[in-house]
Amino acid sequence: MIGIDLSKRTALVTGAGRGIGRAIATQLASAGASVVMNDLDQGLVDEVCGEIDAHGVPGDVTEPNFAQKLVESAIAKYGSLDIIVNNAGYTWDNVIQKTTDEQFQAMLDIHLMAPFRILRAASCYIRDTAKKEAAERRRVTRKVVNITSIAGTDGNPGQAGYSSGKAGIIGLTKTMAKEWGRYNVTVNAVGFGLIETRLIQPLSADGASIDIQGRQIPVGVQASVLENIKKSVPLGRLGTTEEAANAVLFFCSPLSDYVTGEVMICGGGMHF
Ligand SMILES: NC(=O)c1ccc[n+]([C@@H]2O[C@H](COP(=O)([O-])OP(=O)(O)OC[C@H]3O[C@@H](n4cnc5c(N)ncnc54)[C@H](O)[C@@H]3O)[C@@H](O)[C@H]2O)c1
Repeated sequence: MIGIDLSKRTALVTGAGRGIGRAIATQLASAGASVVMNDLDQGLVDEVCGEIDAHGVPGDVTEPNFAQKLVESAIAKYGSLDIIVNNAGYTWDNVIQKTTDEQFQAMLDIHLMAPFRILRAASCYIRDTAKKEAAERRRVTRKVVNITSIAGTDGNPGQAGYSSGKAGIIGLTKTMAKEWGRYNVTVNAVGFGLIETRLIQPLSADGASIDIQGRQIPVGVQASVLENIKKSVPLGRLGTTEEAANAVLFFCSPLSDYVTGEVMICGGGMHF
């Protein structure tokens, strides 16, 4: 890997127990950052923290008071907060006539409301710190990376809720880039195509599911749909979690210090 040095930086990654988030947390740690990682799954939080020496804050990012707790815990542990990656997410798909209010709302809650609350919770620290640094004539660039999807940029049948949440986060990204430019915060989004995680495993009766407030939501994609989509990837294969994390690392690093308000697609050239 090229020499990205994130030592003395504190990075917060949500949904980092498995999949892309775990790869992001691992890469940030190996670049020297102090990592604060979150996941719904306490067992995975313990596992990742053991592996990369991170500070774990288990819990559900859609709980209204959780964002404040998460941000306070990061600052209390490491005394700073420099990089925020809003990654936690899952799919709960159906055609619109079979999509309930609860289902649609759940997709907005996880992909849009939770990142909004986390950025709002961090805003006081970010503004106060940037003002102090400006008074000392120091410019320290902080980073926000929001995770979106080609379902958000292009739309995808069967994903009214998911694609709405993933499109909404792009609006939040672009607005925060404008609000926080004066505080030297770059705010960008990375949109994935098909990355090898449980989210794109073929759906099956005994497949992966996510426990949302006691309800088991199956995650995955219909096998026939998946096969068709795979054929349309120009690079001819799915992406790995490491390749997905590489794109995020660019926006977490000084390499992107003059890039803000942008959406980078990491999808092997595929669009829906
Ligand atoms: N895999 C893909 O092809 C793909 C494509 C486009 C976008 N994405 C996005 O990438 C992100 C990561 O997805 P992934 O493929 O690694 O999925 P994954 O299921 O492997 O990992 C997601 C992690 O987020 C956690 N999580 C879910 N809801 C949470 C909540 N309420 N609070 C805290 N943690 C929560 C899960 O427990 C899980 O460990 C998601 O935002 C997803 O929508 C993935």
